[in-house]
Amino acid sequence: MGKQVQNIMGEVILVASGKGGVGKTTFTANLGATLALHGARVVLMDLNMGLRNLDIYLGLENEVLFDVADVISGVCSVRKALIRDHRFPELYLLSAAQYKEVIGITPAHMEALFNKLKENFDFILVDGPVGVGENLKLSASGVDRAIVVVTPDYSALRNGDMVDRKLQEMGVASRCHLINMVKPELFGRKVVPDLGEVANMFRTSLAGIVQYDENVNIANNCGYPVVCKRDTYIARNFDVIGKRLFG
Ligand SMILES: Nc1ncnc2c1ncn2[C@@H]1O[C@H](COP(=O)(O)OP(=O)(O)OP(=O)(O)O)[C@@H](O)[C@H]1O
Ligand SMILES: [Mg+2]
Repeated sequence: MGKQVQNIMGEVILVASGKGGVGKTTFTANLGATLALHGARVVLMDLNMGLRNLDIYLGLENEVLFDVADVISGVCSVRKALIRDHRFPELYLLSAAQYKEVIGITPAHMEALFNKLKENFDFILVDGPVGVGENLKLSASGVDRAIVVVTPDYSALRNGDMVDRKLQEMGVASRCHLINMVKPELFGRKVVPDLGEVANMFRTSLAGIVQYDENVNIANNCGYPVVCKRDTYIARNFDVIGKRLFG
């Protein structure tokens, strides 16, 4: 990676899942941090209105003054709502609204916001909602590609496949899947689906795998992306994913 990850025009990537708690927010934070560490200009956008977490995982929860809804309703500019994460060269958070009712946001609003951000950033990673409801439609409007996060569990795989099909119906042509919380020691014992079974269930390519590691959970609770610690296999997982996705 390095400077070559920078695009002329930015790219919006939606991170989605069919089942909750599979690691969308963790993945968004750590892929964003990885790309920023390699020289890209990155915005992490939380679209989980009323259920935001990205601010906590980045340790920025006390800095959120404005959110996506404020930007769309014209309360403040995008620039004002972006929170800079000073631990990285160019990493910004655009938080979801948490304590107010959000109504009236349309796909056109989202597309306009994405297009604006694409002028100044290489990657806009969207921490999307769980499931196949209206919020998915909103989050997927105008995105360039989508990554469906699953865990090696039949329930997560089936629901992830449903989301993938919905995204295809919505016109998101470029899609892939990511397997999180992998415990390699369980493969081959026929107690969880193995990588071959996952590949059979999905029609999209594999973006990569992230291993299960309790340090991920600790890092999320302490408010830093786990990839900040560079000499770990989790950091290497994310480097590989970044390379595979963006060359
Ligand atoms: N690779 C991993 N290893 C260990 N724990 C993980 C890993 N990835 C995520 N977790 C933990 O799993 C839990 C769920 O992760 P996360 O909040 O990122 O999921 P989510 O898909 O965003 O959830 P939601 O659907 O609620 O938005 C968190 O406690 C997180 O710390
Ligand atoms: Mg989440």
